[in-house]
Amino acid sequence: MRMYDLIMKKRNGDALTDSEIEYMISDYVAGGIPDYQMSAMLMAIYFKGMSDHETAVMTNAVAHSGDMVDLSGINGIKVDKHSTGGVGDKTTLVIGPIVAACGVKVAKMSGRGLGHTGGTVDKMEAIPGMRTSLDTEEFFDVVNKTGLSVVGQSGNLAPADKKLYALRDVTATVDSIPLIAASIMSKKLAAGNDCILLDVKTGSGAFMKSLDDSILLAQKMVAIGEHAGKRTVALITDMDIPLGYGIGNSLEVIEAVETLQGKGPQDLTEVCISLASNMLYLANKGTVEECRKMAVNAIESGEALNKLIAMVEAQGGDTQVIKDTEKFKKAAYVYDVVAKSKGYITHINTEQCGIASVALGAGRETKDSIIDYAAGIVLKKKYGDQVEAGDVLATLYAEKESYFATASELIERAYKIGTDKPENKPLVYARVD
Ligand code: URA
Repeated sequence: MRMYDLIMKKRNGDALTDSEIEYMISDYVAGGIPDYQMSAMLMAIYFKGMSDHETAVMTNAVAHSGDMVDLSGINGIKVDKHSTGGVGDKTTLVIGPIVAACGVKVAKMSGRGLGHTGGTVDKMEAIPGMRTSLDTEEFFDVVNKTGLSVVGQSGNLAPADKKLYALRDVTATVDSIPLIAASIMSKKLAAGNDCILLDVKTGSGAFMKSLDDSILLAQKMVAIGEHAGKRTVALITDMDIPLGYGIGNSLEVIEAVETLQGKGPQDLTEVCISLASNMLYLANKGTVEECRKMAVNAIESGEALNKLIAMVEAQGGDTQVIKDTEKFKKAAYVYDVVAKSKGYITHINTEQCGIASVALGAGRETKDSIIDYAAGIVLKKKYGDQVEAGDVLATLYAEKESYFATASELIERAYKIGTDKPENKPLVYARVD
């Protein structure tokens, strides 16, 4: 088989066979296919697409390029959750404890920040002492004992995806529906859970900016999950504005704790309850409505917060900062971005907010950058809020005063102020099962 022939086939719009896809993935990981040929293939896929069958075969080949995790050492049904990436998305830190408090195991492998989007592992590491790299035995022990554990992805989980993702990142081929579906679902299949809940983000801060594309992506991923024998549901949730008010690692942990205390922002609380209910539904805990009541009750009773504390303790983290979030280290400098005119907030460009938080030190400019956990943004005004000139729109936090120049300009431009109050928008647009 020659990669040249496969590139030409796909470039001409023909479907690749199962054995051609399997050869392409295994030989690429083995180093037989150079990056320049794989780049050409990715661009051909970007323009010509892939059938559902080709996407499923590619997902399977990428999943099997490394370890297939066996979670049978953990008792009970295990439910996974995956977000396609967003800004201020601290949902895992809220949902994991809720689901565990309702008696369903959460053994989750999460990622780090990517581009303008944040990652759960970075947020967890904002908790002093927290370990996110556990060996399999300890990972299973923590889940069996506390009901949940969130760790970083093991080194050999879907290595083909790591190589492909790095290539897509620099060849303008990230936002292709079959490539995103295969990338996400390969990791989910390799992670070994019984059921998968997908949180497909849509809007200015998401990889998929339009609702139609987000629904299409959700349908493809659900089909792949079901084909692999995993109960899979997707919710399409809003990422046109940041979720909650905090953007940045310890700021987001603080907001997650407040949400588990029942005093979190309304949008974050609602999205978390919707996602948690669907995870419980997938684990056969009842109808979605019944599961919703269980999720609400887990917050009201304090059980969910206790689960977060138990996981933090089991993974070596300092539980004092969770019990009293005032104990998180504070940023050295604080800067307020104020409104230049009066009116209503009609839009917040979420990707720009993500980029601003990176400029403040909350994310990585390069893969070796060191994250400042205290850095970030707290939005003071959200979509639909009324403002007067001079009102604070957002407060910025950083270790160096010089970081405010770029970040404040980005935030100022991210906010759009209009004369009319904009219509309310849904937080959950659709459910795909
Ligand atoms: N997240 C992933 O893991 N892969 C993609 O392709 C996009 C978002």
